[in-house]
Amino acid sequence: MFDYEQVQIQRGARSGFPIIVAIHSTALGPAVGGCRLWRYPDWRDGLTDALRLAKGMTLKNAAAKLAHGGGKTVIALPPGTVLDDATRRAALLDVGELVETFDGQYATGPDVGTSSEDMGVLGEVTKQVFCRPEQLGGSGDPAAYTAAGVRAALDAVCRLWSDAAGGEKTPESPVVRGRSVTVIGLGHVGAHLASGLARDGARLTVTDIDPSRRAFAEQLGATWCEPEAAPTLEADLLVPAALGGMLTAELVPALCCRAIVGPANNQLAEDGVAALLHERGIRWVPDYLASAGGVTYAVARELHGAGLDEAQRRVHAIGTVTEELLRTADRLGIHPHEAAMRRVADQLAQGGR
Ligand code: PHE
Repeated sequence: MFDYEQVQIQRGARSGFPIIVAIHSTALGPAVGGCRLWRYPDWRDGLTDALRLAKGMTLKNAAAKLAHGGGKTVIALPPGTVLDDATRRAALLDVGELVETFDGQYATGPDVGTSSEDMGVLGEVTKQVFCRPEQLGGSGDPAAYTAAGVRAALDAVCRLWSDAAGGEKTPESPVVRGRSVTVIGLGHVGAHLASGLARDGARLTVTDIDPSRRAFAEQLGATWCEPEAAPTLEADLLVPAALGGMLTAELVPALCCRAIVGPANNQLAEDGVAALLHERGIRWVPDYLASAGGVTYAVARELHGAGLDEAQRRVHAIGTVTEELLRTADRLGIHPHEAAMRRVADQLAQGGR
């Protein structure tokens, strides 16, 4: 079923690259979703990615209780493209102009392959952009807040385990202390997360497709492992922080973790994998909830006039929502994805315009 409100595909007038904006839904308010700059074997793969990511943003914004729908932009670079500064700038201006044509029904922000500085460039041609650098009036790089949201969700999972074990409550000691955690991907968000987890005494194993990130792992005192081995390591928590699609039906039987909580968008290769994880007793906190910290922060600061403390409080609330979601799922005997989808469906039905 085609359930998108609008999809625009354009050859960038300046850059010549295919630029795709997919708007999945504006039922809860104007769509918000980042701009991905990535290489794809074919531009149609970029379109597929944009469609899935836009839908993911509808779920994310609703799960985070934001009055926004979901959309996404993809700049689909041909394989092997290396961007010089001028071409990058051209592509970003192309995006800005396209975003501007949606009359405020879509605003973008940073995503894989784009930065706060890049949003500053978009800002030269459109107001519909979040996370420009602070000196340009934006809320800056959201990666630390995305990481904080994931951490809040992860802590919620650990708290439920401690409760179930009837453990002593020692609020001064981080709940992740002594837990084994595997972080897959040390990009913007993954690096923030890994640092915090190392600081708070988690037993950390990390990996990245870029072998030079091993130096960072050593700085953290984390164990390094090869990317192929990481998903099936024995661990309390698995943290997907790289590209999506990692959780396949084939992988599920080989997993050796108790829960999966991470910021990568679209972690499930297909929806049915959520049920397979549930059958194996592995808790999957839906990626669209765990990763909502960045957009929550940006919207709070830039649209709601929230100060730093209030914006951080809202990011932290992802932990409470996660806890409620997991408890509801347990009570109903369904998996967290199902419980979250039911809630989002209710929200969309009520907010439907
Ligand atoms: N890339 C962010 C995400 O996937 C989207 C985002 C949009 C972040 C706007 C901040 C602001 O959630």
